[in-house]
Amino acid sequence: MEKTNENKQSPDTSANGVMTLKRLTKKFGDNVVLDGIDLAIDKGKTTVVIGPSGCGKTVLIKHLVALLRPSSGEVYFKNRRIDNLSVDELNKVRMHFGFLFQGGALFDSFNVSENIMFPIKQHYKITDWAQADELVKAKLAMVGLDGYQHFYPAKLSGGQRKRVALARAIALNPEIILYDEPTTGLDPIRADVINELILKLQRELSVTTVVVTHDMTSAYKIADRIIMLHNGKIIADGDADHIRNHPHPSVQQFINGQVNEDDLAVLRASTTFSQAQFLPRDFEE
Ligand SMILES: Nc1ncnc2c1ncn2[C@@H]1O[C@H](COP(=O)(O)OP(=O)(O)O)[C@@H](O)[C@H]1O
Ligand SMILES: [Mg+2]
Repeated sequence: MEKTNENKQSPDTSANGVMTLKRLTKKFGDNVVLDGIDLAIDKGKTTVVIGPSGCGKTVLIKHLVALLRPSSGEVYFKNRRIDNLSVDELNKVRMHFGFLFQGGALFDSFNVSENIMFPIKQHYKITDWAQADELVKAKLAMVGLDGYQHFYPAKLSGGQRKRVALARAIALNPEIILYDEPTTGLDPIRADVINELILKLQRELSVTTVVVTHDMTSAYKIADRIIMLHNGKIIADGDADHIRNHPHPSVQQFINGQVNEDDLAVLRASTTFSQAQFLPRDFEE
């Protein structure tokens, strides 16, 4: 059975909606990136936001932690409105979130352990250093990197750096973990390690997970629910089967990696252009 949330009249603000967006609109100048989004994120589930580059996925999740403020509309965390909070109040709310953002780099001059301690030190005065070491060890064990405490980021692979960033994201035992393109730039095997970690953390920590990606292999593997953004709106919302069978042509184009007619026209034109620059076959070699 396919499951869909489409055609619901209003977002579910009941106990299950841990985060809620109400009529969220975000404009940059004339560019309307999000156009009246209504969305309730289910507690304890993994929600994946998909869509082509530039469609507003990052802008959407930045609103969930109020790193961006809406042009209009509201953002709620557990029925508390957060989009209008002061920076100090927001810092307290953000303790409940772990985020792994695109380019969310580690501090190069800090070793792995110091990187993971960073968010903890921001919020707590550490008196018991042995306990702090234990905590770092436990977080690293969760991502399979216990023993790497004294490594500097430059000595780690791209996949390992992502995993350390993940250990840092869970340092404060967040209720919600947000990931922006966690598998981008990784080869398929390392990408799958990240998928497995996302699943493991969701299971073991019972967190609510929101992942932004354009990697459909990853989306199908980890999602309880997939949402597709297109032209500032949610055009598809349901489980993996619902998305696979979705009738909207933009959904099919996106999940099958097809280019649309406008892009094709550009490609055809540029092929003619570039062919003219090659030597005729007879002249090769
Ligand atoms: N700080 C900003 N100022 C102006 N425009 C922005 C800003 N951040 C994002 N945008 C625009 O918003 C749109 C969506 O961007 P983004 O959310 O990063 O897309 P993606 O889906 O690839 O994550 C793009 O057109 C981008 O240029
Ligand atoms: Mg993005």
